[in-house]
Amino acid sequence: MTLTAISWDDTAGRDGRGAVRLIDQTLLPGTVVDRVTDTTDDLVEAIAVLAVRGAPALGVAGAMGVVVAMDEGAREGWDEARIQAAVDRVRNARPTAVNLAWGVDQVRPLMGHGRDAVLAAARQLAGEDEAANRELSRLGADWLLARIDRPRLRLLTHCNTGSLATSAWGTALGVIRELHARDRIELVYADETRPLLQGARLTAFELEQDGIPHVVQVDGAAASTILRGLVDFAVVGADRIAANGDAANKIGTLGVALACRDAEIPFMVAAPWSTVDLSMADGSGIEIEERSGDEITSLGGVQVAPEGSAGFNPAFDVTPARLVDAVATERGVAEPRSGQDLWSIAP
Ligand code: MRU
Repeated sequence: MTLTAISWDDTAGRDGRGAVRLIDQTLLPGTVVDRVTDTTDDLVEAIAVLAVRGAPALGVAGAMGVVVAMDEGAREGWDEARIQAAVDRVRNARPTAVNLAWGVDQVRPLMGHGRDAVLAAARQLAGEDEAANRELSRLGADWLLARIDRPRLRLLTHCNTGSLATSAWGTALGVIRELHARDRIELVYADETRPLLQGARLTAFELEQDGIPHVVQVDGAAASTILRGLVDFAVVGADRIAANGDAANKIGTLGVALACRDAEIPFMVAAPWSTVDLSMADGSGIEIEERSGDEITSLGGVQVAPEGSAGFNPAFDVTPARLVDAVATERGVAEPRSGQDLWSIAP
């Protein structure tokens, strides 16, 4: 089964104008069903509930969201200001992954050339994301294999960074796929990734489909797995990488990085260049999305904490550059811990 997290369907929308087609990731792995979205409200809601998620996939959602706003504006007779406000709502639907705003900003200047020009650019952006992911995966795998002397590697990953989080292939999961294609994977430890279980539901689903040996563990097991010497490295994705190599990613990533440093094994961040935000010198200014506490105090819709207890639910953390051995991008691999920042591989 080929998993395409997000695409444009030319015929699915009202009035034959087309629509965004998403795999509804809130229902995976049990139910594989598409959600067709042809209004700004619905796209913003799909982003907010994580029906579409993962930084590079959000970049595609942002770009295609501009087409949705233009089509909706034409259908509803909106003036220019209202269409631009709708585009802004898509751009701001989630704050941490820079790719969402980046995707909007890549195509927005083309609005004056008409929706077909915007749609073509959005489709091109999706194609370029897959190419970037394949290249960064190749470079990331080369970097790891040059440093770890074992026939087959054992590794830990956190959250979901595969086809479901991108336009195709994946970032950290792309590196894992590349290593698997080279027959160099022994076992993947996939953190379940509380509270929305992107690891248990989505990463395990993708690993299972590809026949990559894996186990799912609770997030709280990660440090122990690393210090017990059960893994050779960790690889994760990112939602925003500052110029110095500070990297925002799913909450729990920082603990993985700290354990890797203590165990003296490589901690790699794998991300396309669209996730790099050179306007931020370091990660101190990265806005961390705070989600509803209900996601913490209940499980599968069942309240588990006392009614009076509030949940604290930051969705991301920032791993400081001093803990990041490598950032694998399609432009090359930077080594922030050794003082090599992202400018060193910038275009
Ligand atoms: O809240 P999510 O599921 O959108 O968070 C996703 C992550 O943190 C991923 O690790 C990151 O976006 C990289 S995806 C290639």
